[in-house]
Amino acid sequence: MCGIVGYIGNKEAFPILIKGLKRLEYRGYDSAGIALINGGMTVFKKAGKVSDLEKIVDHNHITANIGIGHTRWATHGEPNDVNAHPHISQSGDLAIIHNGIIENYSSIKAELKKRGYTFHSDTDTEVLVNLIEEVQKTEKTTLDNAVRIALNEVVGAYAIVVLNRNNPDQLIAARKGSPLVIGIGDNEFYIASDASPIIEYTQNVVYLDEQEYAVINRNGQYSIRTLGNVEKSHEIKKLEFSLELIEKGGFEHFMLKEIYEQPKAIEDSLRGRMNASKGWIKLGGLNEYITRIDNAERFIITACGTSWHSGLIGEYLIEDLARVPVEVEYASEFRYRNPIISDKDVVIAISQSGETADTLAAIDIAKDRQALIYGVCNVIGSSIARASHAGSYTHAGPEIGVASTKAFSTQISLITLIALQLATVKGTLPTSKLREILYELENIPKKIEETLLLDAQIKEIAAIYKDATNFLYLGRGYNFPVALEGALKLKEISYIHAEGYPAAEMKHGPIALIDENMPVVFLATNKSAYEKIVSNVQEVKARKGKIIAVVHKGDTQIRELADHIIEVPETEEILSPLITIVPLQLLAYHIAIMRGCNVDQPRNLAKSVTVE
Ligand code: AGP
Repeated sequence: MCGIVGYIGNKEAFPILIKGLKRLEYRGYDSAGIALINGGMTVFKKAGKVSDLEKIVDHNHITANIGIGHTRWATHGEPNDVNAHPHISQSGDLAIIHNGIIENYSSIKAELKKRGYTFHSDTDTEVLVNLIEEVQKTEKTTLDNAVRIALNEVVGAYAIVVLNRNNPDQLIAARKGSPLVIGIGDNEFYIASDASPIIEYTQNVVYLDEQEYAVINRNGQYSIRTLGNVEKSHEIKKLEFSLELIEKGGFEHFMLKEIYEQPKAIEDSLRGRMNASKGWIKLGGLNEYITRIDNAERFIITACGTSWHSGLIGEYLIEDLARVPVEVEYASEFRYRNPIISDKDVVIAISQSGETADTLAAIDIAKDRQALIYGVCNVIGSSIARASHAGSYTHAGPEIGVASTKAFSTQISLITLIALQLATVKGTLPTSKLREILYELENIPKKIEETLLLDAQIKEIAAIYKDATNFLYLGRGYNFPVALEGALKLKEISYIHAEGYPAAEMKHGPIALIDENMPVVFLATNKSAYEKIVSNVQEVKARKGKIIAVVHKGDTQIRELADHIIEVPETEEILSPLITIVPLQLLAYHIAIMRGCNVDQPRNLAKSVTVE
């Protein structure tokens, strides 16, 4: 998720762009850049934060009243100066800033190279700006029409703004799958990824809809058309909410925003990596080492915290589908226990931040002992990503809330693809079953949207149990790691003690804890062990435990036993964690709010534990 800002009008553009980028830094902050038209094209861009960009700006060349700015969350190419936006076309005439992913950029790049284009960065964005240039040249058409034609050729998601140094009176903006809002001032226009850079100048905005582009002129005129070239007009809306709420997308907290972003984050993590109808999976990092991975005698998954819970689900998936032995290790233990590792092992290191010290140290040890390291990270170019031989990014976008939510669900999506691709290579999964699972994986974002509709009901349950001093979370099979994750969510943001346990393990001790003061959250969507789960629920009920059960829609037996029923959409058992975690994230969030806790920055915690 990147931050985009543009300005055309009668004010100095530079201060507006810089301030706007600072407002958007929560969307991505690994590089930033600005392009201005002032007699020519002046571009400043730098890896790092906006404050790093400001240090390199030559203030003798910033006078301009049209410009664009970008703060990057890298998806293609390391976060460095060359890959920073804006990107310039071969002729030097066009500048572009882009938020999103162009899936078919490689084939377009190859074609443009044949036509004599050269590229300086690893980004899909530089390909797009040269495609626009090539279209304008060959079609001998206007820039806005060239943008429209070019966007009809690309596959993926984008929000873009394009400048032409030969026309300082026009900006072109377009969107598909990434937001763009136009602020309408007095003979001036602002463009941004959201209203945060705009609200201090004007409250009058127009939101571009899917597959629309806008031609914005200095004379206060603008037009909106669809990529199908149909003129559109939009009602001018009045911004009501505060700047702080805008940064949180209208949500009270980043954590809630990120819980609600999970459908889109999962779509982004799967984008271009699978095709259900054709039954293929394409994980670049995996293909590069597929022989070694296919011959691996064992997978070791190492991580910390929530990422370790994703790893447990990975163990169930890989053994269940690809029939290869898997061990899951806390990185902090793995690095000190003198583990037996060989070149026959593949170590999968999972980390949202890509900077967790224990996980990094675990990788070093495994590398020294000749294992292949496969990184699953959310931050492009992070230390763990760079320390890995290969890997895949989760593309969840920046996760600001300290309590991990969308990172967890995108890690699981990605590990599911890894397990499925392994099973395909090993022939342990019939193609028909593979396609069935991929079709269902495509349905998961919609089913999470459906599950999010339970928010109000979950908030009511939270109000009943917000003063509990202990919680138990119980699950079997794929839901056991979800029980652990649900307990961690509650612990880390509400400070209530909570434990996750395999449901059957209760009778080996923890059942002594059960009384009328103990809320017990059951994850009871399993088909394979349903009757066992029913017995576990009965055991708790017999001891007066308060039962909150997450069940499939239409469940009948547990309904009779539980104090509260949360009915979630059915899905493939192996995909159930993607659904069953959502009510637990919401339960933890609401309880923490009701207890007056700081959910985005809980006490004692950091977003990335870069120390031992
Ligand atoms: C989870 O909500 C916590 N923020 C924490 O357990 C986190 O998952 C852990 O520190 C690992 O971080 P990483 O994924 O960035 O490596």
